[in-house]
Amino acid sequence: MLTPGDLTRFRALVARRLGLEFDDGKLGFLSEVLERRLSALGLKLPAYEDLLARDAAEVSALAEQLTVGETYFFRNIDQFHAFVDVALAARTQAMSAFKSLRILSAGCSSGDEAYTLAMLIHERLPERASWDVRITGVDLNPRALEKARRARYPAWSLRETPQSARERWFRAEKSEFILDRQIAGAVTFRQGNLAEEDALLWAPGTLDVVFCRNVSMYFPREVAARVMSRISRALVPGGFLFLGHAENLRGLSQDFHLRHTHGTFYYQRKTEEELARDEPHEGAALEFPQTARPREATPTPLPPDTSWFEVIQHASQRIADLTQRTPAPRIPPRATFDRTQALELLRTERFRDVVELVRADRAIDTDPDALLLLAVSLTNTGHLADAEAACRRLLALDELHAGAHYLLALGHEHNGQLEAAQQADQVAVYLDPEFAMPRLHAGLVARRKGDLDAARRELTQALSLLDHEDSSRILLFGGGFTRDALSALCRAELAACGAPR
Ligand SMILES: C[S@@+](CC[C@H](N)C(=O)[O-])C[C@H]1O[C@@H](n2cnc3c(N)ncnc32)[C@H](O)[C@@H]1O
Repeated sequence: MLTPGDLTRFRALVARRLGLEFDDGKLGFLSEVLERRLSALGLKLPAYEDLLARDAAEVSALAEQLTVGETYFFRNIDQFHAFVDVALAARTQAMSAFKSLRILSAGCSSGDEAYTLAMLIHERLPERASWDVRITGVDLNPRALEKARRARYPAWSLRETPQSARERWFRAEKSEFILDRQIAGAVTFRQGNLAEEDALLWAPGTLDVVFCRNVSMYFPREVAARVMSRISRALVPGGFLFLGHAENLRGLSQDFHLRHTHGTFYYQRKTEEELARDEPHEGAALEFPQTARPREATPTPLPPDTSWFEVIQHASQRIADLTQRTPAPRIPPRATFDRTQALELLRTERFRDVVELVRADRAIDTDPDALLLLAVSLTNTGHLADAEAACRRLLALDELHAGAHYLLALGHEHNGQLEAAQQADQVAVYLDPEFAMPRLHAGLVARRKGDLDAARRELTQALSLLDHEDSSRILLFGGGFTRDALSALCRAELAACGAPR
């Protein structure tokens, strides 16, 4: 009989050895799989733990039962469009003298993703025959790899495959679709564990493009960070990385530029010079006191042509008037700013004092916290051009800072660039799907544009996210409104967009 302690230990071993994370809700499943392995092998847990530490075959057998292999051809087709138009175009240009391309599908499952890449390269790479193209699929699960090598698929695997590709690359036989031999022969599969070092797989600067989609979401953060660092090492500078649409590199790696085209996100490896220039730093992790300061919201919708920034500024003006009547003590310049003091000033909406305080910090250009507070305070006091400059400096340190992208969205909206505002909100949402404010803002912008469906969708999301939104983020990005006030605003806007109450 397994004890809770046994399961906790086994869970940690699985995370270490296979890179797979199981939360408390999945402990029942983990326990069933473990019981099955123990009884099949006639072992007790300590002996099984020893076996896992030394026997790769048992790691494979366990992986077969624990991994999720869901995949299909042309999955997230927008990414394949970006692959062809951007990644393939850039890498073939860069490699035109050598005519060689190396592509990895990491966590390839039954091969659908790797074969999709092979089809696209076959169709879209000019003078294909003169190129040496190698596509490799790697997976931990041997049974998935067997399926990949077999290259016969049920109709369900082709559910997103365009008709032209079906006709060109598959032949129906009974209930299966058999992949064309040319495409099947274009991919090499091998077993490998992304959670472990592998000198061949991750040889420095050897890969042009990596697809690692819907894999790292199952890894604990530290394992995911190590995998991303291996991918960074193995990619050439300027090489491309595609992750699943629910995955991003925030907090995992600073080695990549975020790219946003074709309605999708992906990454491009920085050059060595860019990496050398980047100072290592901690991501912004400001901790706030939990007391929120009240600002009452009008539970009426905004006039349709009012920007969210105008609303913030209108509310801030009231505070500015108040603080002018009771002048704040002057803050002496210091080498580095006092975070507690800055946060207290922010909490009491003394934005000008925050600006003065953080600007006195000599290390401001290498301090994401200082730049964030500066950008927030400048936004709240209406200095949008300066706020944008602070955001850009912050993004130079941390390109994946969701808050900075959100603040840029406010500036774009204020300048009447609604498309750019929507794009910046989308980036913020992609980088942090739990972040309520860019959803709310995207809803307001959509309403201004008359796109009521999008407005309702975004505002509904914002309303549900606001319930759990971190208080410190509401304080920073909520334009001075409380959680309740922002929720009331969402509801009023939803009603104005014709959503049922
Ligand atoms: C959900 S599938 C994703 C397949 C494909 N990349 C896609 O997006 O359609 C995840 C795959 O990652 C594999 N995997 C999980 N952990 C792995 C590890 N540590 N090393 C290699 N592959 C792993 C699983 O076996 C599974 O086949």
